Amino acid sequence: MRIAREAEPPIESLVAADRIAGRCAELGREITRDYSGKDLILVGVLKGSVMFLSDLMRHIDLPLTVDYLRVSSYGDRTESGGVVRFELDLSQPVRGKHVLIVEDIVDTGLTVHYLLNNLATREPASLKVCTLLDKPSRRQKDVPIDYRGFQVPDTFVVGYGLDYQGRYRNLPYIGRVPAS
Ligand code: IMP
Ligand code: MG
Repeated sequence: MRIAREAEPPIESLVAADRIAGRCAELGREITRDYSGKDLILVGVLKGSVMFLSDLMRHIDLPLTVDYLRVSSYGDRTESGGVVRFELDLSQPVRGKHVLIVEDIVDTGLTVHYLLNNLATREPASLKVCTLLDKPSRRQKDVPIDYRGFQVPDTFVVGYGLDYQGRYRNLPYIGRVPAS
């Protein structure tokens, strides 16, 4: 499926909306099974994980809470700056809780590596990672991924929450930015 937005070239689809929906349901079932009886907090990494988180959590049939954080690493470029810092922190302590980080994509791994180290100091009962997309070709830090939606090739992807210079987050599928 290709959607032509006004005054923009069409974005080629890599992962169609119905495949994303099916994978969210599968991951939600796995998470429901794995966290049964546990005090679960989903931690959404703003802004890219918003669409994934909102679809995923509808398939998690457990009492849970949701919190958000925002870190910066990319700015407006398609290459990581390599420096990660908090722009917005969690609203509650996570001590003794089961924390599941929900990310849009693990690329170099620098962001998740930083988050795992940082959140571990807060003494959660457990700390795991759920990412919609995994782009292993550019990994700089070897990070554990507990739940993975799809692996993507070494190309810059947009849509379903992911942006290029702040745009395309509203595309209902994952696409590839045309080479300029
Ligand atoms: P990292 O390189 O693993 O630290 O990824 C940092 C962040 O860069 C991700 O959470 C995304 O927000 C963003 N990012 C990495 N690759 C892409 C991409 O292909 N498209 C859009 N955003 C990306
Ligand atoms: Mg992100």
